[in-house]
Amino acid sequence: MTPDLSVEVGGLKLRGPVLAASGTFGYGTEVPLLERRALAGMVSKGIFLKPRAGTAPSRIVETPSGMLNAIGLQGPGVDALIRDYAPKWEAWDFPVLVNINGESASEYGEVAARLDGVPGVAGFEINISCPNVEQGGMYFGNDPRAAAAVTEAVRRRTKLPVWVKLTPMVSDIGVIARAVEGAGADALSAVNTFVGMSMDLHAYQPRLSFRTGGLSGPAIRPLAVHLAHQAARAVDIPVVGVGGIMRAEDALEFLVAGCRAVQVGTATFVNPNAIADVHDGIAEFMARKGFASLDELPRYLPRD
Ligand SMILES: Cc1cc2nc3c(=O)[nH]c(=O)nc-3n(C[C@H](O)[C@H](O)[C@H](O)COP(=O)(O)O)c2cc1C
Repeated sequence: MTPDLSVEVGGLKLRGPVLAASGTFGYGTEVPLLERRALAGMVSKGIFLKPRAGTAPSRIVETPSGMLNAIGLQGPGVDALIRDYAPKWEAWDFPVLVNINGESASEYGEVAARLDGVPGVAGFEINISCPNVEQGGMYFGNDPRAAAAVTEAVRRRTKLPVWVKLTPMVSDIGVIARAVEGAGADALSAVNTFVGMSMDLHAYQPRLSFRTGGLSGPAIRPLAVHLAHQAARAVDIPVVGVGGIMRAEDALEFLVAGCRAVQVGTATFVNPNAIADVHDGIAEFMARKGFASLDELPRYLPRD
């Protein structure tokens, strides 16, 4: 028997539990080239209201079992996204969430309002966790009141599903998770990258022009599993686990830790077929264990 891998997450019915993580799949322009049967959904690269150039090179550094990036949310702005990408997304058989950004709560709200109702846009992931911008980004995700204000500003402007992407750079992720749940989030994505640094020993300065970058890849996985678990324990809305998933077993760790679905990011840079491999591995695991659906997978989620 083939197990049923479909899940419902924060207002979206997904055919599987594995989505593409923001910033690691662009705007999906390569999707027509891919075998997409296993792709349950995609989160777009982060977008602001206006076009942004992002940070100067160098923007990427390889690290042990991971990478640092400081792209600085380069993007074409909302108008170009609506014109160039949303019409493509409309034709696809999986939902695309737009990762939205702003320098103020009202800019986040404005981005959501402009995209609300655009065919091809299935929902939003609010990025209050980017470590690579001077204004906004992680600042909003560090403070429960600011995180709630941004969530409310978006919630007021759309009826589409609203997911909120949390930063790991906090002392208690449960506090932020509860604040955005209270402000109307439908789901949480946990987590974004960790702030890191790497020094160039020839130039005696940081390798990244932004000085610091966001660490991703398998190096962060145990940290991300812990934070996603802490978030899942704190709220009733679903949590989508993100961070260092390379194989099905990694995704299953997030699911057993209390997540409803997962996103795969950096792994795609190493293995373009990573999402399908993770999806198929989960299916194999379920069949081997005799689980008919993901609801039957035991979860470790003590509430005390
Ligand atoms: C090059 C790159 C660009 C990213 N851009 C974004 C972004 O625009 N918005 C966002 O919320 N997360 C962004 N992320 C974070 C990822 O979506 C993900 O949360 C993080 O990389 C951890 O997952 P991973 O270890 O599977 O990559 C980016 C990550 C990388 C590596």
